[in-house]
Parts: sequence; structure tokens; C-alpha cells
Amino acid sequence: MTVAEQTCLAARNLSAGYGSTVIVRDLNLTVRSGEIVALLGPNGSGRTTTLLTLCGELPSLGGEVEMHGTVTQAPLHERARGGMALVTEEKAILMNLTVAENLRVSRGDQDYALELFPDLKANLSRRAGLLSGGQQQMLSLARALSRRPSILLADELSLGLAPLVVDHLLDVIRKAANDGLGVLLVEQHVNKALNVADRVIVMRRGRVELEGEASELRRNPDAFRAAYFASGADPDADRGAEPSRS
Ligand SMILES: Nc1ncnc2c1ncn2[C@@H]1O[C@H](COP(=O)(O)OP(=O)(O)OP(=O)(O)O)[C@@H](O)[C@H]1O
Ligand SMILES: [Mg+2]
Repeated sequence: MTVAEQTCLAARNLSAGYGSTVIVRDLNLTVRSGEIVALLGPNGSGRTTTLLTLCGELPSLGGEVEMHGTVTQAPLHERARGGMALVTEEKAILMNLTVAENLRVSRGDQDYALELFPDLKANLSRRAGLLSGGQQQMLSLARALSRRPSILLADELSLGLAPLVVDHLLDVIRKAANDGLGVLLVEQHVNKALNVADRVIVMRRGRVELEGEASELRRNPDAFRAAYFASGADPDADRGAEPSRS
């Protein structure tokens, strides 16, 4: 088995929720090094709850999380040391520091970060708080990727950003995956997710509704649309979430 085929993250019969309230039940999923798995579903289907449990921010309510083949119950900071990164719509940057300082204090590989996001080079001496929302999210992702994680959990990092910026962020995630990163991607732009992903999981009410190869779902958009909307997604609630037929 090559490195690119190794499972870097797995949920085994995982249940997740808040206190005694179970939201996600008996979830099984795997992410391999080098692939992007899109985790889709309507609002409230349990995607964020899943990601928070996989990263150790929420305790598992049953079942197991495996990182690189080893069961873990470690908290987030320990999983981060083991190579896991979480990025969300909340930008993890220091607004009063410059771009260069932000990259420096994250103690990662700055050259790799700037190779992934060459546009940041022109703004190295600018304060992060003065950047556009899209540039701030690029910096946030650059910081996360500069630490060379082996697993990236991304939760709606494109929220509120212009479509071209979303494309850029997803292109960079694809490039990092091609370098060996395993990615679990929660993304509201369903078409964009389908285009960048290798595999797709659709959740409904805390359970897996559909799982498949992205290439097959792209070839058969009607079946994907049927399953996606059966999952309870409301196409009129978020036009951006509607999978196109083209
Ligand atoms: N802190 C919390 N305490 C109790 N229930 C919660 C909490 N956070 C979320 N929930 C519930 O868990 C369910 C799943 O929420 P989750 O945030 O995982 O969904 P999601 O798929 O990420 O959707 P969205 O991002 O649109 O909210 C929802 O019914 C939500 O009300
Ligand atoms: Mg969410």
C-alpha cells in the first residue's frame, strides 16, 4: 500500500452530541492520505458535530476515532500535535499582527505557506485586520497548512466569501491533498465540493444518507440531486447549495 492509500482518519460506529443528547449515530467514515472527502448535508444534519468530535473538541458518546490507525481520545491540542488541523469560518489569525508575523508565530513552514498562497507575499507587512475577508481566510488556511498537518478538517471555511475566493481556497486544499494531506471538507457550495472532492458523504439527521465516489456522482447528477434533496436540504433556502445539472 502506498502512503497515498493509507487511512489517516477514521470514525468507527461513532456517536456524537452534546451532554446526553446524541446527534450523530453510528457514523463510519474514513479519510485516506491524499484525498478530499466532502461531508455534505442540510443545516443541522450533524456535520459540525462530527468534525468537533473527530478533532477532540467534543468527547465521543460511543464508538471510536482513529488517527493513523491508532484509537485516540486525546483533546484537540494533542491531536493537533499528531498532525490534525481544524479550520472553520472563524479565521484563526491575529488581527493586530502583520501577515509575516502571523506566519512566524504559527511556527510552521512559511515558505510552503507562501508557495500555496503566493498572493500573501504582497501583503507580508500589512496588519491582518486590514486584509479583506478572503485574504484573512487565506492567511488562516496558510497558517494551518504551514504546520504541514497530515489531516485537515475544514468546516465551511468559505462562509460569506466571494465565489472566486472560494475557488482559490479549494484549489489550495486540492494542491495540499495532492501533496499527501487527507481532508474532510464541510462545504456549503455543494457543486464546488463535488468538483474538488474524491469521495462524498451526505448526512441526514446525524446519519450517513449517501456515500460515493465524486466522479460517479458528477457523472450521474440526477441520482446525486435526488439523494441530496432527500437528505432534507431545501434548494430554495440556499441557492448556492443546489447541485447543478451541468
Ligand atoms: N451546543 C449544542 N448543544 C446542543 N445541541 C446542539 C449544539 N450545537 C448544535 N446542536 C444541535 O445539533 C444538531 C446538529 O448540529 P450541527 O451544528 O452539527 O449541524 P450542521 O450539519 O453543522 O449544520 P449547520 O452548520 O447548518 O448548523 C442540530 O440539531 C443542532 O441544533
Ligand atoms: Mg455546521
